[in-house]
Amino acid sequence: MTKRRSQHWFGGHGKDAFIHRSWMKNNGLPDDAFDGRPVIGICNTFSEFTPCNAHFRGLVEHIKAGVLEAGGLPLEFPVFSCGESNLRPTAMLFRNLASMDVEESIRGNPMDGVVLMAGCDKTTPALVMGAASCDLPSIVVSGGPMLNGRFQGREIGSGTDVWKFSEDVRAGVMTEREFAQAESAMSRSPGHCMTMGTASTMASMVEALGIALPGNAAYPAVDAHRARLARMSGRRIVEMVREDLRLSAILKKEAFANAIRVNGAIGGSTNAVVHLLAIAGRIGVELTLDDWDELGRNIPTIVDLMPSGRFLMEDFCYAGGIPAVMKEIANLLDLDALTVTGRTLREELAGAMNYNPQVIRPRQQALTPHGGIAVLRGNLAPGGAIIKPSAASPELMRHRGRAVVFEDIDHYKAAVDDPTLDIDESCIMVLKNCGPKGYPGMAEVGNMALPQKLLKKGVRDMVRISDARMSGTAFGTVVLHTAPEAAIGGPFALVRGGDIIELDVDARKLHLDVTDEELERRRLEWEAPVPTMQGGYQGLYVEHVLQADRGADLDFLVGCRGHAIPRESH
Ligand code: FES
Ligand code: MG
Repeated sequence: MTKRRSQHWFGGHGKDAFIHRSWMKNNGLPDDAFDGRPVIGICNTFSEFTPCNAHFRGLVEHIKAGVLEAGGLPLEFPVFSCGESNLRPTAMLFRNLASMDVEESIRGNPMDGVVLMAGCDKTTPALVMGAASCDLPSIVVSGGPMLNGRFQGREIGSGTDVWKFSEDVRAGVMTEREFAQAESAMSRSPGHCMTMGTASTMASMVEALGIALPGNAAYPAVDAHRARLARMSGRRIVEMVREDLRLSAILKKEAFANAIRVNGAIGGSTNAVVHLLAIAGRIGVELTLDDWDELGRNIPTIVDLMPSGRFLMEDFCYAGGIPAVMKEIANLLDLDALTVTGRTLREELAGAMNYNPQVIRPRQQALTPHGGIAVLRGNLAPGGAIIKPSAASPELMRHRGRAVVFEDIDHYKAAVDDPTLDIDESCIMVLKNCGPKGYPGMAEVGNMALPQKLLKKGVRDMVRISDARMSGTAFGTVVLHTAPEAAIGGPFALVRGGDIIELDVDARKLHLDVTDEELERRRLEWEAPVPTMQGGYQGLYVEHVLQADRGADLDFLVGCRGHAIPRESH
């Protein structure tokens, strides 16, 4: 057997081994902790500024117990925690930073395998991206969703109902007092958003990719099953090290295809698009935006969860979770795909059951027969743009309208509720300069709220187009991730108020009805916006970030750099 990675630090007798072991012993580790047993790093995104992951200090103990039971040595380490609800200007700006932290922490330290503890939206892709660039045996443990929100006798969902309530307040049908009460009712236990937002989507994605144990996505954070799953993951990673079952053996093209199809079936977040593209880039799998359209086309959305549907993650858990969904669409999946269990998906799904056909519908009664993500192209988005049909209004999926243009988020905020704004429900709202470089960080502002005067008229959806992302908990006929973005002078930068835009989702078309000559004339007049921040990490980010169709990773982070033992430190 080749020498275990950690033994290059902890094995042997010289000065170097003395140093590596002696300092580790200051916490009470005995001699035999260094006898060659698998050393398991536990990558913890705990932070009290990331409330979705704030229960991880307790959860990690279950993972450690499992590692010890299987004969491994668990060693926990913190990494940058990017929490969605607090971090400005947007957590997405720091996903890549966190992934660098993860990658270098793994490679530089004496570990043989790693458990990735993620929860809130960006923490999952950040950890998987970093780990994929190292390719050690790795397993994800998600923190689990919050219990369903409950308000005034009914269930309310993270995010989704915030968007609804705030529009209700602006439309005058909900009081400020009720709005304030809903705040405490929405988030009633540890855990992440319990809608099928980005956190639950990404927890589902890692399960569908095969890099987390079955059941990972759905158990609520406070359910004893969650603690048990953490413990079993701790045991399993030790075995994975013994089997040398690394990420690259699991994260094959088939795994990504399965995940894309599952995303369609669950009505998952549009954010999964950029995250899966970025993860694929790290592990060296050729995955494109067009794969999202082709593989996800005709996948029925069968999970009736907010924001596409009615229920919440607790219901989804009791209905059978991701294994039940995968069983329901099994003939659309590659069942030979390997998972962290060492077994194939086929073997894993054998015992799966759907316990609630209201929550996980039979395919014949799909919520949307054509779920998935539609990739739109045209002169407005030569690099592509996306829309999530299951969250859109069917009557707006084919629409021609006059553009009302907001040059950036500040312009939008200043103008949207101006009573003199020339807009009606047939118009198309266009928001520029919110892409990866423009915002910076491609913030979740694409589901921009409608003008108050239209809300008061009862309008609840309009076509909106931007180079931004939207929260996975949001809904509407919202075209996102337009590439190239406005801030680098893509054609999207050249749209002007009064232009006619044509959206045809079935035809995958997004067309600006302006002649090429006129666009060329406008291009000559175009001036690049001044970056909001120079220097520091944000400066580095703006200089190196790729467009949305490449996953918005930093150009120099793409690829797997492996886990060779670095040079000795002293
Ligand atoms: Fe953390 Fe939604 S804010 S998961
Ligand atoms: Mg979110």
